[in-house]
Amino acid sequence: MLYSTLLSKQKMPILGLGTFDLRGEEGTSSVASAINHGYRHLDTALGYENHDAVGQGIAQSAIAREELFVTSKIPRDELSFDDIQRACERSLRELGLSYLDLFLVHWPNNDIPLADTLRGLAHLLDTGQVKNVGVSNFTTWRLREVLELDMAPIAVNQVEYHVYLNQEKLRSYCTANDITLVAYSPLAQGKLLKDEILTEIAARYEKTTAQIALRWLLQKEVAAIPRSQSPERQIANFDLFDFSLSPKEIERIDDIEEILRVIGFWPGEFEKGE
Ligand SMILES: NC(=O)c1ccc[n+]([C@@H]2O[C@H](COP(=O)([O-])OP(=O)(O)OC[C@H]3O[C@@H](n4cnc5c(N)ncnc54)[C@H](OP(=O)(O)O)[C@@H]3O)[C@@H](O)[C@H]2O)c1
Repeated sequence: MLYSTLLSKQKMPILGLGTFDLRGEEGTSSVASAINHGYRHLDTALGYENHDAVGQGIAQSAIAREELFVTSKIPRDELSFDDIQRACERSLRELGLSYLDLFLVHWPNNDIPLADTLRGLAHLLDTGQVKNVGVSNFTTWRLREVLELDMAPIAVNQVEYHVYLNQEKLRSYCTANDITLVAYSPLAQGKLLKDEILTEIAARYEKTTAQIALRWLLQKEVAAIPRSQSPERQIANFDLFDFSLSPKEIERIDDIEEILRVIGFWPGEFEKGE
């Protein structure tokens, strides 16, 4: 396993399990199976309404809490100081945990003062309920606002990032400012699996197109959280550490021209540019 070192110096496993839509008993067994197959990083959110399933999956696995890295996210209408404290308490209760490794603002919200949100995040760090804080779906100009306020150490920005949505400019900005990028929908929800260039490179390594798409992110030091409820695909998505893409192959993938955003809950958010 490779790790990303966060601003706090805590190590985050570079590959995690996305859990959107993994609920109930199926969700629990998917999470337990992933942990038993080596996953140590789990990504959930209050909005996924699956904290109970994720928590039970953790409890069913044979792995100690301290060996896991657990992320959750705060809904965009709960970003005031008080709401953030309540969101954290609810997350911990539902997951059955005493702390979160990472707590993210799920989506920005212009109606709630950013300073209030950042003060809320900083307070959670002070109380020890969360080890790291960050944001999700923040463009460069939004990150600049956060950094200018300088009220909470933002360790992570989690964004849609895959072969069909290359976030090179955002990556440069984050690297320069010690913010670790986490790629969500790293397989473009399956829409990149038949890509010709990925297929050609995959054949060379006897790997799948999904594995090439994930490896491409890892070699850019971008963490990835693919979701799968199938133990076979979970294992395959984790089997990325015995090969490396060459700089030329990375460049070929960088040059793929297809542009696709699969998540559009707040479509206006990205119209103002990167
Ligand atoms: N911060 C945010 O706003 C945000 C937004 C979206 C997602 N996320 C996070 O990111 C995670 C991943 O994103 P995502 O769930 O949107 O999409 P994804 O991981 O790109 O794709 C998941 C889909 O691909 C299939 N799949 C997985 N591995 C495969 C493989 N090796 N071969 C073929 N198909 C495969 C899965 O089906 P099977 O289950 O049948 O394998 C599932 O339908 C989410 O679960 C969530 O934790 C965050």
